Amino acid sequence: MAMIAHKCPQYRVTVVDTNPERITAWNSDTLPIYEPGLDEIVKKIRGRNLFFSTQIEQGIKEASIIFVSVNTPIKTFGTGVGMAADLQYWEKTARQIREASQSQKIIVEKSTLPVKTALAMERILTATANEVHFDILSNPEFMAEGTGIKDLETPDRVLIGSRETPEGIKARDELVEIYANWVPRERIITSNIWSSELSKLVSNAFLAQRISSINAISSLCEKTEADITEVARAVGMDSRLGDKFLNASVGFGGSCFKKDLLNLVYLCRQYGLKEVADYWDGVVRINDYQKERFILNMLGAMFNTLAGKRICLFGFAFKADTGDTRESPAIYVSRRIVEERAELVITDPRALANAEADLADIQGAVAFVEDPCEAAAGCDAIAVMTEWDIYATLDFKKIYETMRKPAYIFDGRNILAHEDLFKIGFNVFPVGKPPLTHF
Ligand code: UDX
Repeated sequence: MAMIAHKCPQYRVTVVDTNPERITAWNSDTLPIYEPGLDEIVKKIRGRNLFFSTQIEQGIKEASIIFVSVNTPIKTFGTGVGMAADLQYWEKTARQIREASQSQKIIVEKSTLPVKTALAMERILTATANEVHFDILSNPEFMAEGTGIKDLETPDRVLIGSRETPEGIKARDELVEIYANWVPRERIITSNIWSSELSKLVSNAFLAQRISSINAISSLCEKTEADITEVARAVGMDSRLGDKFLNASVGFGGSCFKKDLLNLVYLCRQYGLKEVADYWDGVVRINDYQKERFILNMLGAMFNTLAGKRICLFGFAFKADTGDTRESPAIYVSRRIVEERAELVITDPRALANAEADLADIQGAVAFVEDPCEAAAGCDAIAVMTEWDIYATLDFKKIYETMRKPAYIFDGRNILAHEDLFKIGFNVFPVGKPPLTHF
């Protein structure tokens, strides 16, 4: 919404939320999320044509276009528990829109939703005698965290799905006009509403599948002395495949991939497509396997016991340049390390507050330290969880001196200079490459 307000001064954008603390934070000097470049934009246009408010009813009344961007987490109860999207917030919003609206509106699904959700939205909005006309559009968001501003400024594509009726097409064109203020026309694509909803799930499923594919092969590399970076380079140079999203890692995290995969799996099961559901479920299973494999490698390298050892996680965010820790592989790795009765130290330049909240139930067993060198001191092992640039530039010679011996590095992101570390004295265990050990 900040990007729309920034690029289209002729529109007035109001963001409403039920959470007063969040709105206060959006109106303050310290925004509630960290995203490179966002601060500058928000601070420049806030109060000009971008407003943050808790006045939801008023917001609905005044708007002619409403973007519904409420969260749609995985259900934690009842049918579809652990798989299907929990649409309660989304449905509440639909009812609220219906009740407060006094004039015709375009409703844009911005949240990622299962296919055919727009139909439910239409039904809720037209379920009473309220004469107001609504057009529902699907406009999924493809930006990634950490690169959000760049992704929004120069998107690969903007997708708008609509009903193929004259009203639907008119509403669609209105939204196309907004994006056309900065996105080249050929990058704004339109489709029917169900294709649009499905495309978002499928995009994320394909991206996650690539990571699970490379991670699956990383386990084979570790057995065969092949090197996953060399394999990825050779594979990625095939122009049909491309070289992006082929970094082997401790596993993918983030709020979207797992949720969208599980949604897709649930959807396929509902339609009786068991084989298809199992296929996509495999992507999630490989990701879980990769996280557990990381712990098993650690155990294997450290004489099958972590008990009493002190282990430091470099990074806790699910990726670099964000403080977000949702579904971060570091959460799983932390819990397993503590389960193995090791002491755990966590460092991260942006995500320590979230890490503390994620591990609230085992906080007694974990220390949170801002400075990575301080965090590593006295530890037996360092495990890199997040590919923060700063980790590659640390003075590992100094760090080595402060650590217990033998000292280990498990590079879950393959970002460190492994040969150099080995020469300093570390036993180095990358992902999908032969380990470098002094034993
Ligand atoms: C993703 C999609 O990329 C985006 O289009 C969608 O709108 C939202 O979901 P995001 O979750 O923010 O974005 O981050 P992304 O860059 O996709 O990374 C997801 C996870 O995969 C991270 O944990 C990242 O570290 C991991 N990853 C990514 C790898 O392990 N290897 C790779 O090669 C790429």
